[in-house]
Amino acid sequence: MDWGKANRMSKVVKPDGKCFYLAIDHGYFQGPTHGLERPGDVASTLAEFVDAIFVSRGVLRAQVDSKIKTQVILRVTGGESMVSEDLSNEELTTAVDDVVRLNAAAVGVSVYIGDKSEHQTIMNLTNMINDCERYGIPVMAVTAVGRELEKREARYLSMACRICAEMGASVVKTYYCEDFNKVISGCPVPVVIAGGPKTESELEVLEFVYKGIQEGAIGVNLGRNIWQNNRPRAMARALQALIHENLAPKLAHELYLGFEK
Ligand code: 5RP
Repeated sequence: MDWGKANRMSKVVKPDGKCFYLAIDHGYFQGPTHGLERPGDVASTLAEFVDAIFVSRGVLRAQVDSKIKTQVILRVTGGESMVSEDLSNEELTTAVDDVVRLNAAAVGVSVYIGDKSEHQTIMNLTNMINDCERYGIPVMAVTAVGRELEKREARYLSMACRICAEMGASVVKTYYCEDFNKVISGCPVPVVIAGGPKTESELEVLEFVYKGIQEGAIGVNLGRNIWQNNRPRAMARALQALIHENLAPKLAHELYLGFEK
């Protein structure tokens, strides 16, 4: 790996081999999402706990302080909205020269395996990888399921992750599921866990993140389960401790309960 790419990778995967990304990109197809009405404020409130924010260029330029200490992973696909019939109808939205201008450490591209626009989204991934490889920028593939949440199972996700890795993604983001070890063992590049809709309890999130990491994921890219929590800083701190300080879920939950009362 070239020095530049290795250097960028080291910014988004910490020396312990783990990572914690805060996803604040949801507005790119959902508009103002509950808890994420002002993504810049969410970023500044939580930046101290996370290794990177996952964000679109519009929000980054408009709302995020350029002196922010955490890394930036740019969401570079879009082209549909939550009211579109076909959520998979995405194209690349951000050219690689803008990625460089924004000093992003990495980019994220959604891929919709089995959906109407499967081919187009795989090509989005390969085209972005071809551009990013010229500049040493890692690409995170996002295995997107759109409205079909039932796709979050090992057979589908291991196929989706493997295809993304074969295309050249440096990291693949996917969902935790039963038999997650099958997803991990079939994927030759590091896997990061996405969150999904807000769960009933904090412990549930801490448990699936912990299990996912035990089974081989390198970390998380979480959004709603942090900034839709009524104590987002406590949740971010608990996840940070679980990911980087090997705290077990129950202890991380105690940390959550006792944080900044
Ligand atoms: C939204 C995304 C998000 O980054 C990803 O789903 C993680 O967020 P959440 O934990 O809220 O699911 O790709 O388009």
